[in-house]
Amino acid sequence: SDLKPVPTQCVGPTYRSESQKPTAVVSTGVEFETVTILPQTPQLIALLSIIRNKDTQRGDFIFYSNRIIRLLVEEGLNHLPTIEHTVTTPVGRPYDGLSFQGKICGVSIMRAGEAMEQGLRECCRSVRIGKILIQRDEESSQPKLFYDKLPEDIADRWVLLLDPMLATGGSASMAVDVLKSRGVPEERILFLNVLASPKGVQNFATKYPHLRVVTAFVDQGLDDKNYIIPGLGDFGDRYYTV
Ligand code: URA
Repeated sequence: SDLKPVPTQCVGPTYRSESQKPTAVVSTGVEFETVTILPQTPQLIALLSIIRNKDTQRGDFIFYSNRIIRLLVEEGLNHLPTIEHTVTTPVGRPYDGLSFQGKICGVSIMRAGEAMEQGLRECCRSVRIGKILIQRDEESSQPKLFYDKLPEDIADRWVLLLDPMLATGGSASMAVDVLKSRGVPEERILFLNVLASPKGVQNFATKYPHLRVVTAFVDQGLDDKNYIIPGLGDFGDRYYTV
């Protein structure tokens, strides 16, 4: 396994001195310009601490992972193109602002990625959402595409690809290859992810140098079953069944 010990760091607003801040393990850094890690705020670390806890029950797991997902979607939207847009306020004055440019859609990698659909819908009203089902082939233990249903005009859209866990990057890579085969250029894919392994990010960002990744946290490594560690266990099980 690629586990390295990670020191704790002070977490909190810059106006507090180091001695006034609690310490926690924050995300591992990555050297890829295309990868954005959410700011390691007290709020994010506290939310992650809840969903990582093995004693957290399903109701709380859903509630708090939804909050992290919402943060990811809000950050992800910052990476979509905007154009200058001036509006007139009710007092008759102009405000020079921005408006979003371009059509988007979501694509969730089933089953865990479906948990991120609601957060996307909350921010993008009536957004179209496609699905991709990839499962490990029993014989080869390689990821295999079982099903996909994508918007017809997906090649004309920005795609927010949804999967909360990036372990080896096998499923995410296969999903990107499906999107590319439907005419979506890498530059127009944004991968939203809760928890990544260093290897997963490394493999993925190297393979797709023009694709943007927004993740909440890059964890320490993978165990021998390719679970992220320390991780949070099986996201789909904890969100949908356990
Ligand atoms: N998928 C999960 O749900 N958890 C992991 O740790 C890795 C992949």
